[in-house]
Amino acid sequence: MRINDPNLLKGLAELGVELRPAAKLSELTSLGIGGTTDLLRITKHESIPGLLQLLGENHVPHKFLGGGSNLLVNDGELPWVILQLAPPEPGVVLEGNLAHVDAAADLGRTVTFCAKHDLGGMEGLIGVPGTVGGALRMNAGAYGMQIGSYVREVKLCRAATRKIDTLRGHQISFEYRHTSFAADDMMLAVILELPSKPYNEILKGIRICNEKRRSSQPLGQKSAGCIFKNPLGASAGRMIDELGLKGLSVGDARVSDRHANFFVNTGRASAKDMLALIADVRERVHKAYGVALENEVVVWNA
Ligand code: EPU
Repeated sequence: MRINDPNLLKGLAELGVELRPAAKLSELTSLGIGGTTDLLRITKHESIPGLLQLLGENHVPHKFLGGGSNLLVNDGELPWVILQLAPPEPGVVLEGNLAHVDAAADLGRTVTFCAKHDLGGMEGLIGVPGTVGGALRMNAGAYGMQIGSYVREVKLCRAATRKIDTLRGHQISFEYRHTSFAADDMMLAVILELPSKPYNEILKGIRICNEKRRSSQPLGQKSAGCIFKNPLGASAGRMIDELGLKGLSVGDARVSDRHANFFVNTGRASAKDMLALIADVRERVHKAYGVALENEVVVWNA
């Protein structure tokens, strides 16, 4: 979708929102898949309610993009524009055991920064790609921890009211790869309360998680992490592996040879290829185990 109405362009400029025309989602997602649309870059949180109102008045549909690391986007010209927060400087400000983190901050860098200041707890998240906002929205977790456990407060823009709001941790429900945020609420910032731990000890934990991840996940390849959520008490990866589906491909979309719940783009996979592979694997697992696997990857195919 292209924005070229002069009044709308003027309104965006007045709000300090930068227009990046014809952004390629294949370059903005870790899967390397996705078509083209205009991208609006937001530098000030305060401009968001005005921006949402402006887009609403001009009937411009939009979606919020975080780090693009858990996302499968349709091919071709996309029928909505993308909103993205500009990476903050600095992304993290510490105050005792509290870390004030901008949602656009890189998750891995945030974990490392806190570790260097003797704040731990998030070691398991070290290799998880994406932004802190993205991790928050889906309650990212690994190796026995999840980000939701450390959330004290979240600043967000409510989709329903277009207002900036602050929620205390106890007002949000964090479950396995699921939160009580509305699908189009926009995460803006978070306060994490982290346990004190000496840097050396945190580093040991980080190294162990890194090693586990390197030995079991296809880190060098284009993927969106795990495609499916794990069903209660089971592992989607193990089930897909047991069915002998590693290496199963549709075009350049392929079930990883290393971890069967990672589907990788080995070259120029299209969204259509990846969606067909997901549907095929889901059906085979359903037939064999009677389990309907639920997507962990977020799909924008409208
Ligand atoms: N397994 C296989 N074959 C495979 C993959 C796994 O047999 O191809 C077996 C493993 O040997 C192990 C069991 O399945 O016995 C579980 O595997 P793993 O430890 O790799 O964990 P997972 O359940 O597949 C989850 C998260 C990962 C996270 C790891 C480590 C989900 C959907 N996945 O994977 O998160 O990194 O645990 O904590 O919850 C993600 O969410 O994108 C993600 C990568």
